[in-house]
Amino acid sequence: MSKSYLTKVICLECNREFEFHPGLDHCPKCGGAWLDARYDYETVAKIWQNGLSGRIKSLWRYLELLPLVNSDKIVSMGEGTTPLVRATKIERRLGHPSIFIKDERQSPTSSFKDRQAAVASTAMVEAGVQECVLASTGNAAAAYSAYCARADIKLWVFLTSLVPAAKMREAALYGAEVIKVTGTYDQAKKVAADFAARRGIHLDKGAKSIPGKESMKTVAFEIAEELARQLSASGDGATAGPFWRAPDWYIQAVSGGIGPLGVHKGFEELYKMGLIDRVPKIGIIQVKGCAPMVRAFVANQPKAEPVVPETRITVLSTGAPGLGYELLYQANQTYGGNMLDVTDEEAFEAMHLLAKTEGYSVEPATAVAFAGLDKLIQQGIIKPNETVVINCSGHTFPVEKHIMDEEEVLDVRLSQADKVAPGVPIDGLGAALQRLDEQVTTIVVIDDNPMDSRLIRRLLQARKPYRVFEANGAIEGLKIIKERLPDLVVSDLTMPEMDGFTLLEELKRDPLTANIPVIVVSAKDLTSEDEQRLAGQTSSIWLKGSFSTQDLVEHVVNTLSGNEDDNGTSVTSRSLEDTQELEPVSVISSPGPEIVPSETKKVVLIEDNPMDARLISRILEMSRPLEIKKVHAGQDAIKVINEEEPDLIVLDLLIPDKDGFEILAELKQDEKLDAIPVVVITSKDLSEAEKQLLIFNDIASMWQKGKFDRQKLIAHIEAQLK
Ligand SMILES: Cc1ncc(COP(=O)(O)O)c(C=O)c1O
Ligand SMILES: [Zn+2]
Repeated sequence: MSKSYLTKVICLECNREFEFHPGLDHCPKCGGAWLDARYDYETVAKIWQNGLSGRIKSLWRYLELLPLVNSDKIVSMGEGTTPLVRATKIERRLGHPSIFIKDERQSPTSSFKDRQAAVASTAMVEAGVQECVLASTGNAAAAYSAYCARADIKLWVFLTSLVPAAKMREAALYGAEVIKVTGTYDQAKKVAADFAARRGIHLDKGAKSIPGKESMKTVAFEIAEELARQLSASGDGATAGPFWRAPDWYIQAVSGGIGPLGVHKGFEELYKMGLIDRVPKIGIIQVKGCAPMVRAFVANQPKAEPVVPETRITVLSTGAPGLGYELLYQANQTYGGNMLDVTDEEAFEAMHLLAKTEGYSVEPATAVAFAGLDKLIQQGIIKPNETVVINCSGHTFPVEKHIMDEEEVLDVRLSQADKVAPGVPIDGLGAALQRLDEQVTTIVVIDDNPMDSRLIRRLLQARKPYRVFEANGAIEGLKIIKERLPDLVVSDLTMPEMDGFTLLEELKRDPLTANIPVIVVSAKDLTSEDEQRLAGQTSSIWLKGSFSTQDLVEHVVNTLSGNEDDNGTSVTSRSLEDTQELEPVSVISSPGPEIVPSETKKVVLIEDNPMDARLISRILEMSRPLEIKKVHAGQDAIKVINEEEPDLIVLDLLIPDKDGFEILAELKQDEKLDAIPVVVITSKDLSEAEKQLLIFNDIASMWQKGKFDRQKLIAHIEAQLK
């Protein structure tokens, strides 16, 4: 598509308007995340009025009303254009003549969330986002995992522990990092948001986001096209437009409400473009154990109170729908519709009946809609002459235990006290997130002796909840390293097939692995030639038989937490339990003080999060050899800068004990320090005033964590250090 028809964006929280650009995910005026895209409907109406025959068979046939700027980057598996099938058995059973099933099970990952994943991953590719965090009740996780795999986006999915293990395994199968949060879905969302903010990773904002809601409009467009085709073919076309026709009702099982919000918007757009003669009424069906929308609707309230979900149907467990409900309530007030709930048991019954009568096997969340349809018809809310479309939203593929191990799933447990009520701040969150940082820390241990690798792995895991992968050879090790991009490698030197020297060279050759620290453990007495080969390639070298494994473990922990112990020289004192070890000698060999070439520039990196500090230094070092001094406490920053007299300062803004703005202000007061260029890398969303303050402080540049282009940052650092 050469032209975008998207004309403007409206913030649904403050009603202000602004321009669209890829990656836009909050209102620049109020910071709100509920955004809505608007298009040039007049022009699109002219293009669409005679139908879209001949177009591609996927949801991308509706490109004009999708939030895209460049159609070259579409991430697609042929999602959309799912069948619309007459539900003859249900029609007969309920004595209702016109019911259609929109079979969304026939999507790439078997649920309608594929639409959202396709459009959201495409939007991420357009915006240059390479890493994403998502909280999900299950199906969005599978959908996003598949599409992000396809789009080369690293995905972190946060699921509640109540989500069936099969769904977690499925996400893991696609290579996503799966994090299981023991708590409600609303709490998992909070943990995910905090995790994303701390690491500066793009957070998917679901129904609030432009790609999310826009993607679901395609359900409406497809229904309208297909209904026109089927009804005119069946001779029932008296009132049908030749190309587009709206049903009277759209029914869906609802959790957060992205489906009905998008579908409603899609129909409303068709209506405003004069392509259909009515906007369907929306039938929202929730499960009784988690029905905040229904509760509010029955009480005729425009806002919903959050609830703590109590249902086995976890896919529908959004307890706090927020503005989503308010928007659906407004649609209901304008165009009619209904909201009602069904019990878990009613849903299970509907599930059996649907399979046995229509031949549709669905998951319980979908069956909720079918149980609700019965009620809407039986209670006379849906009138006999009204055409109904029901969303057959999904049926997950069960990834059996033997296919995917649950070891892949990371567990985050909030303390009992945290589970009090929705909306209440979560106290244990800080501790849980701290632990999560360790849980996502990945180490690969390579040793041809399985006893040695297992010992190192066990000791490491006894110390911290790291993810440790063992490889019993360098070839296998290299494969795991390329797949996992670990935070650290511990490798033996003498191994059959491929030795440690070659492994190190292979790692250095690939820019993705070149900066992963490698600790070498060797049984071999190193010749001076060996030492030369290793120089600059390893983080430290340990000679087997001359140290305790416990010391090695401490060194690994220190290296990973950023408390570098100078290549193992200042190892903590050994405890008595270390008798399991080889030989209690305290000699720890290291490559000796690294010789710093004269052109090596100095950088002081001020970053409180050790994981981020490590990642940033790795990226910085891709530009050239650097001597990087990491400072984790804001209090120490000025002292270290004075001592080191660096060529460049890299500064985080959110440091708990003393923030980046204070540090900048102090630098400004000293003429010598003020001359050092400062590069700010932060996850903080800056207010206008803060941006002005950074400009006033004359920083060299500002980079948003998780969103910047590494190559650009590297080039910029190069330029600063010239
Ligand atoms: C199969 C299935 N049906 C229904 C829903 C509820 O959809 P919504 O997010 O639109 O409320 C979901 C949500 O995850 C789902 O996976
Ligand atoms: Zn706003």
